[in-house]
Amino acid sequence: MRIFITLFIFLIIVACGSVKNTFYPVESDLTKVNSPGSIVTLEELNKGYNLYVASCAGCHWLPVPTKKNKSDWEQVFPEMFLKAKLTPDQQQLIRHYVFSKL
Ligand code: HEC
Repeated sequence: MRIFITLFIFLIIVACGSVKNTFYPVESDLTKVNSPGSIVTLEELNKGYNLYVASCAGCHWLPVPTKKNKSDWEQVFPEMFLKAKLTPDQQQLIRHYVFSKL
């Protein structure tokens, strides 16, 4: 019995690890949003991530950024930003965060 409990706990830890990789901003994500004209920092991605978690999981499950491509996100964002009542600055942070995951 104890072996099953140990295995179960192990699986939960592994599952949480992959959820972290899916959602947490990491240094290598920066290359996907940075261009010569606009420099986004890891700190900004973290702010965007925190806003995303706080604003986008109230009405439904937190959407996985990679489940949509950039143009699909651009279609979804305006409606959801209104629903979440975000300021333009907050919208920009979330946009950078989501695009850094694509
Ligand atoms: C006030 C409630 C509410 C908030 C806050 C909210 N949503 Fe939604 N969201 C909905 C509802 C209701 C639907 C399904 C109906 C629809 O598409 O309008 C939906 C659908 C979605 C979908 C699926 C749409 C599709 O066409 O596949 C995505 C992706 C999404 N939301 C992302 C977000 C993001 C990102 C945020 C944060 C900025 C957010 N939502 C905040 C209510 C909300």
